[in-house]
Amino acid sequence: MGTVKLWFALLMAVSVQVLCKRELVTTPPLPILPIPTSAQLKWQQRELIMFLHFGMNTFTDSEWGTGHEKPSLFNPTGLDPHQWVDVASMVGVSLVILTAKHHDGFCLWPSQYTEHSVKNSPWKNGNGDVVEELVDAAKARGIDVGLYLSPWDRHDKRYGLELQYNEYYLAQLQELLNRYGSVQEIWFDGAKGSNAPNMSYYFGDWFSMVKELQGSINIFSDAGPDVRWVGNEKGFAGNTCWSTINRTSLKIGDESIVGYLNMGDSRGTDWVPPECDVSIRTGWFWHKSQEPKPLKQLLEIYYNSVGRNCLLLLNVPPNSTGLISHDDIRRLGEFRRAIDTIFSTNLAEGSISKASSQRGGKNGGFGPEKALDEDHLWSYWAPNEKAHDEHWIEIIGTGKGFRFNVVRIQEAIGLGQRIKRHEIYADENQVATGTTIGYKRLHRLEKGTVQARRVRIRITKSRGWPLISSIGLHFDPYWEPKVAKQNETVR
Ligand SMILES: *[C@@H]1O[C@H](CO)[C@@H](O)[C@H](O)[C@H]1NC(C)=O
Ligand SMILES: *[C@@H]1O[C@H](CO)[C@@H](O)[C@H](O)[C@H]1NC(C)=O
Ligand SMILES: *[C@@H]1O[C@H](CO)[C@@H](O)[C@H](O)[C@H]1NC(C)=O
Ligand SMILES: *[C@@H]1O[C@H](CO)[C@@H](O)[C@H](O)[C@H]1NC(C)=O
Repeated sequence: MGTVKLWFALLMAVSVQVLCKRELVTTPPLPILPIPTSAQLKWQQRELIMFLHFGMNTFTDSEWGTGHEKPSLFNPTGLDPHQWVDVASMVGVSLVILTAKHHDGFCLWPSQYTEHSVKNSPWKNGNGDVVEELVDAAKARGIDVGLYLSPWDRHDKRYGLELQYNEYYLAQLQELLNRYGSVQEIWFDGAKGSNAPNMSYYFGDWFSMVKELQGSINIFSDAGPDVRWVGNEKGFAGNTCWSTINRTSLKIGDESIVGYLNMGDSRGTDWVPPECDVSIRTGWFWHKSQEPKPLKQLLEIYYNSVGRNCLLLLNVPPNSTGLISHDDIRRLGEFRRAIDTIFSTNLAEGSISKASSQRGGKNGGFGPEKALDEDHLWSYWAPNEKAHDEHWIEIIGTGKGFRFNVVRIQEAIGLGQRIKRHEIYADENQVATGTTIGYKRLHRLEKGTVQARRVRIRITKSRGWPLISSIGLHFDPYWEPKVAKQNETVR
């Protein structure tokens, strides 16, 4: 009896060990700093967010109000933030940012620190609050809210008196961040007229207060700290675009840094990814005379922002009724359908994949098939730690192979942005080259549609081992490349 028990115990111990052994997998590689915070990671995955420029300018047909406008001019007859968030939701937007106060100083919420607000307007007899209505509507739709509070204020008498104005501004920040629940992004800019009084903003105090009141918020400004401006208002990031910069050397509102912001810095010590702000119309505010941009232009913007490691902050201005105009809604619907048409099918899905090497060998958990699954963040292909020459990953089709004109590549940015240079081959032909990848890189093939059995991505330069989390082959029916010259041979 005793011997049987002993044998049984031994058998159990051995099988437990065998089972445990089987469960052990190769550890992930170390990150390469800097890496994103969890709020930045969440932000990056939004891809498309929406700006709502609405306020006094909507009623005066201007872009920069003077600050002398009478509150009686603010009178939307059918304001309905539920419609705004319905539109946002239709376009696939998860965060909307409202101009709580623009340069003219008029506040869309009843601030207790000024008379220049909705409380002295005819709208809802002065009992309305646009910020509150938006927050409630967004909450009901499961959409997050961000706020813009213009530092430049052309109305308030305290502007130009450094201490008083900074206190006023900070007081309004506290109102906004204490009263309306969770705010996911706050937007600061250095915009200012050339003859505005010279005065310093206490960004240090402002940023610290914001973080104190809203733990998971992202602060946007020219230079972060969490999200940076892309350096233009066209919606275009640099062809090379790093999420990293050296933040402390930058001054908010400094014109000379726009190129640096546009491309980032491969040696940057801070993770401050760029956001591309652009309006669906010419102006930021609604004007009767303006129309939404054509679909082609919106797609161009999408490829040059989302397709270059950025977030697209698309402005859609509500009109003077207080609603988003039909023309904009129609265009946004076309835009969403186009993106879905192009990207909802990954032609590489279910294909065989191969790579130059893989971390931990065959069962290490970092094989090339990881670049074809649904997880675009934490499941990735990693080369073998002993591989020091060139790295590549390849997708192999069956039959005639793939017919595509867009290649999507994503890096596992949770472990840092690494890739510096890459090349794409369709069978033996090089069809695209590029520098950075980051969270998402989209290549529309300049020579148009390609048919190939094998698609190989070569990483020719990177900081440490490249980690690729996703690869997609797509077909974009809207893409018309410039016709290649007759005598030009494929390189
Ligand atoms: C503005 O004031 C700062 C000091 O607060 C000064 O360094 C700067 O030169 C001034 N700029 C102009 C344009 O006067
Ligand atoms: C950013 O900082 C790093 C580390 O100090 C440095 O190597 C790099 O040259 C800096 N970038 C620029 C543009 O100065
Ligand atoms: C604003 O847009 C709505 C459609 O959502 C439209 O019914 C209304 O007439 C527009 N207002 C103006 C002033 O154009
Ligand atoms: C195409 O042909 C023209 C004229 O024969 C020549 O000048 C040009 O360099 C050629 N282009 C290429 C890319 O071969």
